[in-house]
Amino acid sequence: MNHLQALGLNSTSKCGRAFNQPLADYNTSHLPNPHFPDILAKDMVRAFAPGKCILFGEHAVVYGHPAVAVAIDAGVEVELSESDSWTIEGIPFESEKHPHISHILNDVFDYGGDPLKIKIESGLFSAAGLGSSAALSNAMGAAVLRIMDSNAELDLVKLARIGHAAEAKAQSGRASPTDTATSALGGCVVVAGEQVTGTKHVFDASMVTPEGDRKWSICEVELPADLDAWLVLGFTGISSPTGEMVAGVAKLLEEDSSKDQEMDAIAMITQAGLTALGAGNLEAVGIAMNACHERLQNIGVSSPELDSLVEAVRPHSLGAKLTGAGGGGCMVALTQNPQRVAEAIEVVGGTPLISRLGADGVRILS
Ligand code: MEV
Repeated sequence: MNHLQALGLNSTSKCGRAFNQPLADYNTSHLPNPHFPDILAKDMVRAFAPGKCILFGEHAVVYGHPAVAVAIDAGVEVELSESDSWTIEGIPFESEKHPHISHILNDVFDYGGDPLKIKIESGLFSAAGLGSSAALSNAMGAAVLRIMDSNAELDLVKLARIGHAAEAKAQSGRASPTDTATSALGGCVVVAGEQVTGTKHVFDASMVTPEGDRKWSICEVELPADLDAWLVLGFTGISSPTGEMVAGVAKLLEEDSSKDQEMDAIAMITQAGLTALGAGNLEAVGIAMNACHERLQNIGVSSPELDSLVEAVRPHSLGAKLTGAGGGGCMVALTQNPQRVAEAIEVVGGTPLISRLGADGVRILS
């Protein structure tokens, strides 16, 4: 089951069209004249939240080590319109089939307004390490907040916390706040057991996990404005539930304590990668990404498909690694030649997605 299915949604990915890409021209004569005010019109809200790409520190961050993630251009859009009946994607909304959405509506916001027509469009590959469930949670939370109160300011930290609690539930209590915080805040986010020097503190999060209590400091980092590089994500086509991958690493660490060294090495690479990123030293960022991939291989979260994509893009990239939980899902390359990298990904059977580093966070579109 992938992320969207786990949330009770159809997983058909609509990755082909960017959200800001115009729809094809079509006859609009059957639509109401937009200049004629419709006094019966009900409220409608559209919210968007970006996906995320972890540059350094996945898995290690669950144990309190640092991770560095950036928001990406693609994400999830939620449209809510007041209606006469509850529907989702055109069919009746049954709350038990959509526990995550029901939780946000009822438990978090205590929604008591008109029934809602809910539409969800995802530009992210599902269960692929790009934070699709975090983006859905943030976009849904933002849209519900705004439809309840048209003057409400988005509380980004509250949205990130709601999403983190939902992720923890889906990942048997082992979830860092990385995905939800990056999707909520946008830009470049550093999550660590304690604040990393040179970062700006935003909020703290804590959680009781099966391996003990965890605390994280969630911080922002300003990226140099003139970074001349792109991220190209490559989807293996294989969905990989984060919960299973995180549980697999927990088992490995329990059975083989020498693997703790890999986690310590990932933490050092993350620190070096962050310093390089802050200084705009792209070559050093790429070297750190390559080193991080090797360590992730050593804890068993890469796969032949991920390794093949990483190998294929290396000649055209500054660095490349798997991103997110691994086991399938996506790899990411940092490159100054995104088109060439995208082609290399396609040649070996992957699906590419090009993004800037550090898109804006969750927002209301209309
Ligand atoms: C998933 O995107 C990243 C992991 O580190 C899990 C987590 O941080 O919750 C594998």
